Amino acid sequence: MALHQHIKRIARFKGDRLRFHRTLYFPRHFLWGASTSAYQVEGKNIHSDWWQWEKNSSQRFRSGNACDHYELYEKDFDYAKDLHQNAHRFSIEWSRIEPKEGEWDRNAIEHYRSVILALHKRHIKPIITLHHFTNPEWFQKKGGWARRRSVFYFSRFVRFVIGELGDIAHFWITVNEPMVYCTMSYLSGVWPPGKKSYFLANLAYHNLARAHREAYSIIHGIYKKKDWHPPKVGAAINSVSLHTYQKHSFLSWLFMRVSDWIWNHSFYFLTGETHDFIGINYYFHYRLKEPHFRTIKFFLEARNEKREMSSVGWEVYPQGIFDVLLDFRRYKIPIYITENGIATTNESKRSRYIVSYLKEVYHAIQAGVDVRGYFYWSLMDNFEWEKGFAPRFGLLDVNYKTYQRTYRQAALVYSEVCRTNSIPHHLLAYIGHSVEREKRK
Ligand code: BGC
Repeated sequence: MALHQHIKRIARFKGDRLRFHRTLYFPRHFLWGASTSAYQVEGKNIHSDWWQWEKNSSQRFRSGNACDHYELYEKDFDYAKDLHQNAHRFSIEWSRIEPKEGEWDRNAIEHYRSVILALHKRHIKPIITLHHFTNPEWFQKKGGWARRRSVFYFSRFVRFVIGELGDIAHFWITVNEPMVYCTMSYLSGVWPPGKKSYFLANLAYHNLARAHREAYSIIHGIYKKKDWHPPKVGAAINSVSLHTYQKHSFLSWLFMRVSDWIWNHSFYFLTGETHDFIGINYYFHYRLKEPHFRTIKFFLEARNEKREMSSVGWEVYPQGIFDVLLDFRRYKIPIYITENGIATTNESKRSRYIVSYLKEVYHAIQAGVDVRGYFYWSLMDNFEWEKGFAPRFGLLDVNYKTYQRTYRQAALVYSEVCRTNSIPHHLLAYIGHSVEREKRK
């Protein structure tokens, strides 16, 4: 083709240039929200094993009133509504509902009923987690999740809660991040009950898988019997993106495959078909190197590599969420991103984080993954377990003396996404993909 013909062609397509920078729309009915968990925001969960742990272990931080969300939930949901969120993920604290073995606290269950109704009133869909890391103290004293009977206790709690609240909520997450829970509580021992045993960690993991299976059939059974609108039941799994550093190292490749299976797929292997959706909590990306056998150190530290990180040292790696989503497509059921977020006090960084991760989610959807919702962690700053109150994950800044909430800049960025069900063109400026709009003549 002659040069002048080329130039003509390019000129013809000039008008198309902006199309590559257009607004990125999400599917209709997409759920947009934020997540919290009871113990991290409510405050004064005095019957929980964590409360005892704070008193009796070397744990340095006390959760105390946390964000006082137990009292302030209506106001918090007003914020969520103002931020155009149409769904909200929260958890029910087992130790409030069943403070003593087999005794149900009516006030507590009525409280959670009001919480759900408060969400409905604001047209926010409740997504409810039944186990988010904390247990009643009595349950822990009986041996916690390392005992086979744990499944019996948990099932009894599930049966009660669903019987009481199932008529007004339909979306249930049985357990949150079982692998993280077992690692922190039974392997590294920094969460209650503070054990350091592979054997116990393994037992607890299997019991949590059994508990999920049981809960799945209990929930479906009750809804069927009562003829309620069919529920959606699943689990929220901490899903990690892994790469090898040296492309041709067999050992690091092998370790990568094994880690991938353990972290991302073992729970689904143990629980089979008992999922109506996949819940993905995505925070971590690791590069794996040749093992150093004396220290068994496989992971390259984001800190040593001088990568961009959050304030708690977690790498910012948006492409990882794309990889994980494509990988989970294999289960052929809808996917919800039940948690994703960053601890930082730098609002440009948080805004960039949100836009860049969501852009990857958008591309995964374009590539055919059935993603139906996204929940930022977290609606507000909260008690970050063994790290106390220092990490700031919230869309809302919390003043822990006055309990006042203030919008962060990134909350407004995210609210634009929620309001428009898209990443509007101008937000792409956060990741350097924007172009000036041409002036209209
Ligand atoms: C957990 C939350 C936690 C968050 C940030 C998630 O793994 O579900 O409880 O606060 O990560 O660390």
